Amino acid sequence: MWLFETTSVIMVITLTSPGDCEREWKVTFNDTDPCALKGSSVVFGCSYDYPSYQTVTNTFWKFKTQNADTNFYEAQQYRDRVEYLGNEQHNCTLRMNNLISSDANSYYFRFKTVNNAWSSKTSVSLTLTGLTAEVNPATVREGEKVTLTCETTCTLSDHPTIVWFRDRHSVSKTEFQANSEDSGIYRCAVQGQYNLSSAPVSLDVQYAPKNVTLSVHPSGDVTKGISVTLYCSCSANPPVLDYILYKESGQSFTTVAGWQTHTFSNIQPEDSGWYYCNASNSINTVRSNLTALNVQCEYWQFNSVLTNRRPTSHFVMPAPFGCNVCLAEAV
Ligand SMILES: *[C@@H]1O[C@H](CO)[C@@H](O)[C@H](O)[C@H]1NC(C)=O
Ligand SMILES: *[C@@H]1O[C@H](CO)[C@@H](O)[C@H](O)[C@H]1NC(C)=O
Ligand SMILES: *[C@@H]1O[C@H](CO)[C@@H](O)[C@H](O)[C@H]1NC(C)=O
Ligand SMILES: *[C@@H]1O[C@H](CO)[C@@H](O)[C@H](O)[C@H]1NC(C)=O
Ligand SMILES: *[C@@H]1O[C@H](CO)[C@@H](O)[C@H](O)[C@H]1NC(C)=O
Ligand SMILES: *[C@@H]1O[C@H](CO)[C@@H](O)[C@H](O)[C@H]1NC(C)=O
Repeated sequence: MWLFETTSVIMVITLTSPGDCEREWKVTFNDTDPCALKGSSVVFGCSYDYPSYQTVTNTFWKFKTQNADTNFYEAQQYRDRVEYLGNEQHNCTLRMNNLISSDANSYYFRFKTVNNAWSSKTSVSLTLTGLTAEVNPATVREGEKVTLTCETTCTLSDHPTIVWFRDRHSVSKTEFQANSEDSGIYRCAVQGQYNLSSAPVSLDVQYAPKNVTLSVHPSGDVTKGISVTLYCSCSANPPVLDYILYKESGQSFTTVAGWQTHTFSNIQPEDSGWYYCNASNSINTVRSNLTALNVQCEYWQFNSVLTNRRPTSHFVMPAPFGCNVCLAEAV
């Protein structure tokens, strides 16, 4: 049997003893093209074999161009990151941690016995990749379908579970009907390795104005003569372009203001009525519910016994809409 020492020209003739036929010189890699994430770890599963009368003296993991019999990981830049998990029997497993771009390379295993040496014919060719998140489409209307995809340039060898985050909250589905709360910044990551997440991508879910509300300030009793502000609020994406405040009068309506707020600096009973507002963005115009404004009359009660007719108390009387007479005094 002829054995070739691969990196030198020495040929070694060995006498074959019975039983050695099954034990050839060979190195077997579990995966010759592993793919891993930059920053993660990779394990090169490896086993080696040789005739049983041989005794292994040294093992090496090396680059193809590396001539001397040294372990590549003895160099400073690998020392803390690479671990030989194998032994001097049949296991040549290697682990590399905190992978960096320059680790994408071809690695060979070589071992020496007392009177021979053997190098792997093939190498472990490591490819590194990152995660690229995609949100499709990036801008949607509420109710439309959104698909999240997390891509790598090679298929990760350990087939990890990919997880998604929106603004640090975990996202359970990669396909969903967009809701206004789904707007945000998305990232994908490998489960358990959240530091190795993708660059952020954003999703913008657009919707017509929602929760359009016309409010009255101050709320509660509104008495003649005070200042009263109507305020139209809502949530909308894109933002509201136009607000219009209306007052209902019979079957019709009158425009009170063409913007978000309106202040009556000196409110009068005839301002009583039902108000609403319409809010419009590029998607739609939505109206609020009706809000009642009830301007009440202020009455003064006088102590008729006293000659100076000084007011002793004042109180507010609820007046129905349309009350347009406020008495200056009442007995
Ligand atoms: C490599 O494969 C062998 C045999 O299938 C297995 O026992 C070993 O655990 C594997 N090593 C790694 C690191 O996956
Ligand atoms: C080689 O060693 C590694 C690390 O200890 C272990 O995971 C693997 O199972 C071993 N391989 C075999 C074939 O025993
Ligand atoms: C992730 O990064 C943070 C901050 O950069 C660090 O404190 C933490 O130890 C890292 N976690 C892991 C699992 O690497
Ligand atoms: C609707 O708007 C009101 C007033 O701005 C707010 O208090 C309320 O939380 C909103 N409701 C929803 C469901 O957004
Ligand atoms: C409008 O009124 C309806 C019925 O009372 C109510 O369900 C809805 O929440 C109101 N809308 C707003 C924006 O307050
Ligand atoms: C307010 O908007 C609604 C649609 O939401 C529309 O039907 C209505 O005519 C608008 N009101 C006015 C006064 O334009």
